Amino acid sequence: MNKIIYLDAAASALKSSGVIDAETRFLRDSYANTGRGVCARSIAADEMLAHAREYVANFIGAESANQVIFTSGTTDAMNRIVNIVRGTKNVKTVAVADIDHHSARMPWENVARRGEMELVKMPLDENYDIDAGNVPYADVMVITAMSNVMGVGQDVQKIIAAARDKNPNVITIVDAAQYVAHAPIDVQKWNCDFMCFSGHKIGANTGVGVMYIKDPDVFMPDKFGGGMVQTISGDTWNIDVAPNKFEAGTLPLAQIAGLPVAIDAWRTWSGGADIISYMYDELSKMPRVQLLTPRDAKIISFVVRDMHVLDFGVLIGAHDVCVRVGNMCASWMHHALGVDGSIRISVGPWNTMDDAVRTVDIIRGIIK
Ligand SMILES: Cc1ncc(COP(=O)(O)O)c(C=O)c1O
Repeated sequence: MNKIIYLDAAASALKSSGVIDAETRFLRDSYANTGRGVCARSIAADEMLAHAREYVANFIGAESANQVIFTSGTTDAMNRIVNIVRGTKNVKTVAVADIDHHSARMPWENVARRGEMELVKMPLDENYDIDAGNVPYADVMVITAMSNVMGVGQDVQKIIAAARDKNPNVITIVDAAQYVAHAPIDVQKWNCDFMCFSGHKIGANTGVGVMYIKDPDVFMPDKFGGGMVQTISGDTWNIDVAPNKFEAGTLPLAQIAGLPVAIDAWRTWSGGADIISYMYDELSKMPRVQLLTPRDAKIISFVVRDMHVLDFGVLIGAHDVCVRVGNMCASWMHHALGVDGSIRISVGPWNTMDDAVRTVDIIRGIIK
């Protein structure tokens, strides 16, 4: 069988043996629930959790590990943030943009569709980047740090500064699901209130994500239950401080054990710019290909004239090449680009130049 060429890192990254080993080791040697026991295994599990939290805090530039909340992923965090923010603040307007993934915008749009608040649009400039010079006044701003269709990092710091000029009390929420794979996150420099990403985009397992909260003491928790309350007596309960406050129930412990290893491995990856630019240049020579992304983007999105993206996906899949086709859960971005769907090539640390050369040859054959 031919080696499968996996060019779909932006959907989910392949797992290194280091990550698989770290999860296996934890499951085999020190598995127990956290925060609830005093035996050796419980202590080892608590230590693993504390280490992972510190590691992530350092990775994202947080002031304190208590600002790092483990979730099951970006979609989970984005839905939770709606309830966390609305549990404490009166939200009348939320700014969103057409580069948003469904997971970032739909949770707020759902509230707007019930007539409980209004969505306002952040304009994009001619390159489809958020136009920091024209951000609207809003109570909440959702900022997609990198579109999963365009692959271009946004100037998050500038956008947030502009948002605070308009409204010093704006709550800013950064979706870093794609950005995390390509550039360092610095939540203090960004000065964001919330930031989230999914571990699986950088080689950790599915089922673990990170939600950063700048001021966890200010917000009410959105989930109640075991592990987040210190005492209950009569009519009073004492809710624990962060991170416990926002981590009711049992965490995805094995996945968390693999996360620091994934981060560590991902940090040593050069980013694959040479592979992307080779494929971009070759695709740009093919007359039927319409490239949607700029040359320096971290991914390549394109369409083929007179060929449905799903047909392309099936044809290239038959050659053992995995790319993503469709609307990428980014309908608004595709509407802005004037296409129904696209074909996306994205790379990870496992990809080689040979993958790129073979893929280009195969594409040439498919659309000749
Ligand atoms: C920009 C962006 N936001 C959010 C998500 C949702 O991530 P998850 O499916 O891991 O929750 C994705 C996934 O592709 C994404 O690319």
